[in-house]
Amino acid sequence: MNSSSTPNDPTRRTFLAAATTAAALSTAARPVSAGLWAGGSDLLKVGLVGVGGRGTGAAEQALNADPGTELVAMADVFEDAVASGRRRLSRMFNKEGQMPRVTAKDEDCVAGFDGYLRVIEKSDVVLLASTPHFRPLHLRASVDAGKHVFCEKPVAVDAPGVRSVLESTEIARQKNLNLVSGLCWRYHPGKRATFEQIRNGAVGDIVTMQCSYMTGGVWDPRRRPDQCKSQMEYQLRNWYYYTWLSGDFNVEQHIHSLDKMMWAMNDEAPVTISGSGGRQVRTDERYGNIYDHFDVVYTWASGVKAFARCRHWPNCENEVEDYIFGTKGRVDVMSHTITDLKGNVIWKYDGPDGDMYQIEHNELFAAIRAGKVINNGDYMSKSTMLAIAGRMAAYTGQRLTWDAVMNSKEDLSPKQYEWADVPVPPVAIPGKTPFV
Ligand SMILES: NC(=O)c1ccc[n+]([C@@H]2O[C@H](COP(=O)([O-])OP(=O)(O)OC[C@H]3O[C@@H](n4cnc5c(N)ncnc54)[C@H](O)[C@@H]3O)[C@@H](O)[C@H]2O)c1
Repeated sequence: MNSSSTPNDPTRRTFLAAATTAAALSTAARPVSAGLWAGGSDLLKVGLVGVGGRGTGAAEQALNADPGTELVAMADVFEDAVASGRRRLSRMFNKEGQMPRVTAKDEDCVAGFDGYLRVIEKSDVVLLASTPHFRPLHLRASVDAGKHVFCEKPVAVDAPGVRSVLESTEIARQKNLNLVSGLCWRYHPGKRATFEQIRNGAVGDIVTMQCSYMTGGVWDPRRRPDQCKSQMEYQLRNWYYYTWLSGDFNVEQHIHSLDKMMWAMNDEAPVTISGSGGRQVRTDERYGNIYDHFDVVYTWASGVKAFARCRHWPNCENEVEDYIFGTKGRVDVMSHTITDLKGNVIWKYDGPDGDMYQIEHNELFAAIRAGKVINNGDYMSKSTMLAIAGRMAAYTGQRLTWDAVMNSKEDLSPKQYEWADVPVPPVAIPGKTPFV
């Protein structure tokens, strides 16, 4: 395995410059067109950036989606993550007597902050599944290099990141590159049928929406001395708890519910956002600087409101639900059920279930083979911004406009990507934390 060195000045800007150089070389060497694989016989080389739980899952789905795929490269900031992901995927896909599907050579299994460049260079299709903070950088480098992308959610943690992703979306569009989002519910058969019903007027005009993502939380962060040689390493190993890495949990997790609200609104953005939140249970320093509960109200120009709440409190009632209320009835999105105003069920999905994670990849690879283009960039950017806007409203305690959040200058990046100290900003205090 190759452990790539960190550049001397590994700022966001230097990485972007390096990415652009690699991109220029790569597109010049092998121009990619939408119809390149239309014959259906060529090998499609898949690369993975972020070899964690979701990344290895996405690689598995990519290899299952199309028999002509091989995993040719992988990168993670941590060498142990690359090694264990490579072992796991090799066990699954390199069976005795069969052609191996995980063919990444040692030199293409890279650890370090700039490993993504190697993956992009080697691949036709790049799976982006690192922690959310790095997504804008990885995505830009991928589309600049003319590569098709599977892009996990959320796609950014701040507004500059979202604006960068919108630009990358446009670059992908101009180059006829597929850009499939990990907002997986949009690929779920039951949800697709339910939203089709909404589009066809089953509940009349939408009046209000309510979504909840209330669970017990994620892993308990512990400092393992063998794994935490610097603050940067500690924070990356426990990325969920740092706003600059995850966006906070209403962005990392609740985005799935918020995305359904945007789906119902045909991806029209709300005009104002207000909310509250805080840390009631996860107060210890080891929980970084994120909140453990949020309550946000989004208001659209038409007056439609979405009430969105999420929390990470163990030993409390869990609730993951989405409701859409219209002039003629109500949708329970998670159970794919529509009732009239008196509560009578007027429609219920009874089609096949289907694995949405697999379907995303099936559709991505089918599109590439057919020379077609799927581009989910606009909605994945807007839904990410919706979630970030909720965080900003709760952190500041202010009512914010969509225009203001879209133009926010707040950049959560650390000064440098290096194995050193990364200061942790204080937990936000509404009324004191400014909107930037
Ligand atoms: N669509 C879904 O339902 C779903 C489910 C789970 C996770 N996710 C998303 O997938 C992403 C990864 O989540 P996960 O659960 O796999 O977390 P994870 O911690 O298991 O994996 C993330 C990996 O990314 C690596 N990484 C961090 N910075 C990197 C960088 N600069 N370059 C390369 N690798 C880097 C980490 O070391 C880690 O191995 C997150 O954005 C998460 O929101 C989506």
